[in-house]
Amino acid sequence: MAGRIIELAILAISVSAILRNTAAQKKHVVGDELGWFLPPRGPIAYDTWASLQTFSVGDILAFNFINEEQDVAQVTNEAYKTCNSTNPISLKATSPANFSLHSPGDYYFISSFDRHCLLGQKLAISVPASSPQPSPAVSPRGPITYTVGDELGWLVPPAAEIAYHTWAFGNAFIVGDTLVFQYINGAQDVAEVNKEAHENCETKKAILLFMQVVQPASSLISQASISTLAPIRFTVPWIKS
Ligand SMILES: *[C@@H]1O[C@H](CO)[C@@H](O)[C@H](O)[C@H]1NC(C)=O
Ligand SMILES: *[C@@H]1O[C@H](CO)[C@@H](O)[C@H](O)[C@H]1NC(C)=O
Repeated sequence: MAGRIIELAILAISVSAILRNTAAQKKHVVGDELGWFLPPRGPIAYDTWASLQTFSVGDILAFNFINEEQDVAQVTNEAYKTCNSTNPISLKATSPANFSLHSPGDYYFISSFDRHCLLGQKLAISVPASSPQPSPAVSPRGPITYTVGDELGWLVPPAAEIAYHTWAFGNAFIVGDTLVFQYINGAQDVAEVNKEAHENCETKKAILLFMQVVQPASSLISQASISTLAPIRFTVPWIKS
């Protein structure tokens, strides 16, 4: 290896990305981009939307709609089933209409406009009693093995460092996850460094440096695995420089 110039690619995953956690209060925009309207295929639109959400106490439901063409009434279960908007719990006629999910339980919303509810403009959601508020030590899911850069792999990225920033930002990491770096032996390596060294692209004081995989020797593709558990463990044998 003497004299050989190796392109040093530095682990570009910031501590903030690794420690990024779920926000305390979440805003759910009902129907996402579609908003709150008369769904062409009936109630399945909002049933589906609701099934894809995880509601917690303290979250906010936001209804976006066209004033005077839509409104939103919070109603009882009975009124929801019968599309009865005569005596709602509350009625909001101005968009965006926000409802705070202040306590656990079921919440029902309908439009009070003529026949809108019967045609599917209705939403039922459930807020669980124990809002899962994961502490950093308790993972809400099992460990995941991430391939850094996905199909791109670990290389000098064509679109500069934004590539790995974007990749890291798109993933939520927890303690116990594994990062796998796939690269071509001799052309790339990977060093774990501290924050300061990361900012300065300084590898002299690398915490760990991996250059080549021992097994399988015939493969061009290296797989460097770093567990984010402390202390850091490695799942495949490596030559440590
Ligand atoms: C609608 O609800 C109101 C008040 O809750 C009730 O008086 C009325 O009978 C209900 N209408 C129907 C058709 O169930
Ligand atoms: C609802 O929340 C949005 C931001 O989340 C805010 O812009 C809007 O003014 C709120 N609507 C009302 C009626 O407070």
